[in-house]
Amino acid sequence: MKIKDVPAVLTPVRTKEDLLFEDSLRPRNFEEFIGQDNIKSNLKVFIEAARKRDEHLDHVLLYGPPGLGKTSLAYLIAKEMGVGIKPTAGPVIERIGDLSAILSNLQSKEILFIDEIHRLHPSVEEILYSAMEDFHLDIVIGQGPSARSHKLRLKKFTLIGATTRAGRITAPLRGRFGIIHRLDYYKNEDIKKVILRAAAILKVKIDEAGAEQIALRSRGTPRVANRLLRRVRDFVDVKGKSVITAREAHDALDRMEVDSVGLDDVDRKILTTIVENFGGGPVGIGTIAAAIDEEKDTIESIYEPFLMRIGFLERTIRGRKLTAKAYAHLGFAHPTRTAAQKKLFKD
Ligand SMILES: Nc1ncnc2c1ncn2[C@@H]1O[C@H](COP(=O)(O)OP(=O)(O)O)[C@@H](O)[C@H]1O
Ligand SMILES: [Mg+2]
Repeated sequence: MKIKDVPAVLTPVRTKEDLLFEDSLRPRNFEEFIGQDNIKSNLKVFIEAARKRDEHLDHVLLYGPPGLGKTSLAYLIAKEMGVGIKPTAGPVIERIGDLSAILSNLQSKEILFIDEIHRLHPSVEEILYSAMEDFHLDIVIGQGPSARSHKLRLKKFTLIGATTRAGRITAPLRGRFGIIHRLDYYKNEDIKKVILRAAAILKVKIDEAGAEQIALRSRGTPRVANRLLRRVRDFVDVKGKSVITAREAHDALDRMEVDSVGLDDVDRKILTTIVENFGGGPVGIGTIAAAIDEEKDTIESIYEPFLMRIGFLERTIRGRKLTAKAYAHLGFAHPTRTAAQKKLFKD
């Protein structure tokens, strides 16, 4: 059976087009940041406490799949703390000197935001340890026998690190974060709120049922929800309609061949490969990665969490296994479907 390719519209990783919209769509305060209530209320307490003491906020590590609001939260924290934020990313900092320059320019309580912090060069990462812990840098001046080590004092800053790959953060780095939060996929009702909010900002007319339809296919990810909203709006505009209703949303998403549960083409490749090449599993993640020519890391951090969350993939000690639900969605016959499951999947 040939599975149709789903357009990249569902891919949670940021595209160039997203970049154009993300600034205007970013929540401007905690009230506008929808869902993730537990994280929000914790952060609010820590921020308030730091402000009362007139101190810097403890270092924060935010992790979870792409598009769930890590960068947005970093900016919100800066705003609520009333301090500046300097954004950079792990792979961008190539030399120790680059990081030293950034750190020594930070003002008191200011925030250094390092996206993709798991991709820091090890020698650069090492510099961070003393900077985070004691707010100093060990700088070596000169070379050879005349080289001297100098201690450079830094202002008390806050490091916010973001990563899709918490498992790749080394223990010494992880241990230096006082506040660690994992962002999880959003409930459909929260995604619906994200869509209604974005629609208001973009001046798109949409009704509740229309937003619900888009939410269903947004894979619990605000970034995908915002993107689908823009695509549906294009369809509706071209048709000369003025409001996104459930029917319009449904038609547009179907015409774009957006999967009914939000799978993108990589998800599908993973699932079909497990069925076609490995008899449905269990199969190791490294083997799957090699078979579809993707990085193991990408599969583990971006695709697998979503497939597990919607109950399509199971983790066993012997590897990953497809569930009956996934077989039903893909239209494959399940090899060991029980009578009870057959009944469940009849309609
Ligand atoms: N909780 C939220 N409420 C409203 N919009 C959100 C929320 N989280 C994320 N978004 C939207 O989704 C987009 C992607 O969020 P971002 O913070 O860049 O995700 P990440 O850094 O985790 O990849 C942003 O443009 C933002 O508008
Ligand atoms: Mg980000």
